[in-house]
Amino acid sequence: MIRSVVLSAGKSLPRRLVKNAELEGVIETSDAWIVQRTGIRQRYIAADDETTASLGEAAARAALDAAGLTVDDIDLIVLATSTPNNTFPATAVEIQERLGMRHGFAFDMQAVCSGFVYAINTADLYLRGGMAKRAIVIGSETFSRILDWEDRSTCVLFGDGAGAVILEAQEGEGTIGDRGILAASLRSDGSHREKLYVDGGPSTTRTVGVLRMEGREVFKHAVGMITDVVVSVFEQAGITADDIDWFVPHQANKRIIDASAKKLGIADEKVVITVDQHGNTSAASVPLALCEGVETGRIKKGDLVLLEAMGGGFTWGAVLVRW
Ligand SMILES: CC(C)(COP(=O)(O)OP(=O)(O)OC[C@H]1O[C@@H](n2cnc3c(N)ncnc32)[C@H](O)[C@@H]1OP(=O)(O)O)[C@@H](O)C(=O)NCCC(=O)NCCS
Repeated sequence: MIRSVVLSAGKSLPRRLVKNAELEGVIETSDAWIVQRTGIRQRYIAADDETTASLGEAAARAALDAAGLTVDDIDLIVLATSTPNNTFPATAVEIQERLGMRHGFAFDMQAVCSGFVYAINTADLYLRGGMAKRAIVIGSETFSRILDWEDRSTCVLFGDGAGAVILEAQEGEGTIGDRGILAASLRSDGSHREKLYVDGGPSTTRTVGVLRMEGREVFKHAVGMITDVVVSVFEQAGITADDIDWFVPHQANKRIIDASAKKLGIADEKVVITVDQHGNTSAASVPLALCEGVETGRIKKGDLVLLEAMGGGFTWGAVLVRW
């Protein structure tokens, strides 16, 4: 059976690093409050010349280099983003053009913070369906552009950045020992859409809008939703939390990550945490964390890696990958 095997990961962060202390001069907040409530210590903020397309391109190039491939080897680009360069065309085609790729196909996916989990699952289906041989799956965001910088309850939480992985269709045995994507579970429930949304859009206000969130409501639902999809993935694969080598969750809030890991019975030392360094980079957070796990020598070939995310919509999902 065909499996979508992860060949490499790459990342790109804006030049400007903003520590919590710097925000103390902009809004009424404190490093202590942000760290205690979220675990975030710093985030990167894009300059005007750094966009979702440029960060995504750089992450894709890093992933290509790490795999020893060029764009000629790729036939699909899936970009997860909620902060596209333009309403249309898809930012994925801009990245395709920047990479100098004149064949194949590219498109954007929008599932907010779950975007990368949706995108890697989508690319897996194209590869297993035989429509593509190798894909770059990118999560790239410039959330700083859609923040209300006067709303201290949201602006301290998010950051900009991009991460990417390369997937390749390879023959597997059809067992849990195969490398590649082994199981996935996706969910959404639009009845929660007003708990985390952007108050503008082309078809309503004709503006871009800014992020609005009922933080406590999001928090209340997060752990239950995350654990539901993870348990579904465990059941599909016939494994338990003990079989996982690395848990790479969406990096929104350290308290949500800790509570999810605890409820699932995943040991702390198996959890890859980057929220302290990057803040919540929405669709970029999981691939950035994956890249960190690989670059620090923790995630290695053959490891069983569990990805999960939850975000606006609400959307949520989990993917199990043997690296
Ligand atoms: C946003 C979040 C950190 C707020 O933490 P909380 O413990 O729920 O805090 P509350 O919203 O109840 O606010 C507590 C107090 O802190 C204040 N506060 C809010 N933001 C603050 C900030 N940046 N600095 C200092 N104080 C702040 C509030 O005004 C409130 O003050 P009050 O009690 O005088 O009214 C938390 O709800 C959260 O992380 N939710 C999930 C958000 C998330 O992860 N979203 C993305 C999902 S993809």
